[in-house]
Amino acid sequence: MTTKRFAVPSLTALALALATASSLLGQTPRPKVTVIGTGGTIAGVSETRTSFQSYRAGQKLIQDMVDELRPQIDEVAEVSTVQFGNRASGGYNIPDFYDLTLAVDKALETADAVVVTSGTGTMDEFVYWLELTVRSQKPVVITGAMRPWTVIGTDAHANLFNAIVLAASRETTCLGKVLMLNDEFHAAKEVWKSDAYRLDTFIDRQVGILGYVDELNVRTFRAPPRIQHCDDPERWRTPFDLTRISKDDLPRVEVLMGYQGARLDEAIAAFAAAGVKGIVVAGGGGSREARQAAEAEGVVFTATERFRSGGNNLMPQKARLLLLLSLAFSKDPEQVRNWMAEFSAAEFEVGPRR
Ligand code: SIN
Repeated sequence: MTTKRFAVPSLTALALALATASSLLGQTPRPKVTVIGTGGTIAGVSETRTSFQSYRAGQKLIQDMVDELRPQIDEVAEVSTVQFGNRASGGYNIPDFYDLTLAVDKALETADAVVVTSGTGTMDEFVYWLELTVRSQKPVVITGAMRPWTVIGTDAHANLFNAIVLAASRETTCLGKVLMLNDEFHAAKEVWKSDAYRLDTFIDRQVGILGYVDELNVRTFRAPPRIQHCDDPERWRTPFDLTRISKDDLPRVEVLMGYQGARLDEAIAAFAAAGVKGIVVAGGGGSREARQAAEAEGVVFTATERFRSGGNNLMPQKARLLLLLSLAFSKDPEQVRNWMAEFSAAEFEVGPRR
């Protein structure tokens, strides 16, 4: 006996279908989505159709990639593209991140939503940087791929398509920046890359994914706590408005990793002598004397754990971005400490039960 199963379309799918139908009738314009390409494996070209891991990242142009999704993508959104760069994710530095934020802001002046494509290597840093610096409440979705564009069974095409579907659905409005890969979308603060090869590499063990993209259905199961300030955009935004500072105001901040028997005093002194303004110590290490000597030279320390979750722990790479921005926007150590605490600890304010 065969059982027929009927998929129940989500509200998003219905909305998209209606938007598509009415736009065909010339009534409602399709959502405008700008895709900003930065490179990575998603834009990679492989040696053969089966060289899943042997390829050159950052080769294909984002316009050509979007064109390969036509005509289906045209039913979802009016898509435009910006080629920001075409490199592996590790090829970008903090001044480039500054420019990327301005590029996203500029695109959002006219677009309803933005998709950023990048390498997955440091994508958890890209998305957290955008979370902290892009001040619009409109959807910003970052995506990439674990297999290059040109192999059989690549995830690159589906990830780009799904990221545009998610952005066009506008379901992530006020959720902050999200990372979409392998049909799942994740909050910027929690998500991290866990595996060098697997397609389900992005995880957020502590609190779980935000939702799924299944064809045109976007299913959202939870929201990051910042959604509670959606009606109060000033409160919703972070204080890190990059139009108020220049790239040169972004200080050098480094990470030191602790381990059994670590002796980090020389490294701390060397960082201080090199002009480093902040050090994230992940998992301890370094004597009190070494830290005090560095503090006397103006270095600010912050502590995280090496493991990814538990309490309000921010992974060291993300704590570094938060400290860097905090130091760029305030010279007051108390204010810097407050921002570090506030943004690491974002939780829902549930009132008297506390
Ligand atoms: C990169 O991070 O640019 C290369 C690896 C990837 O995109 O998966």
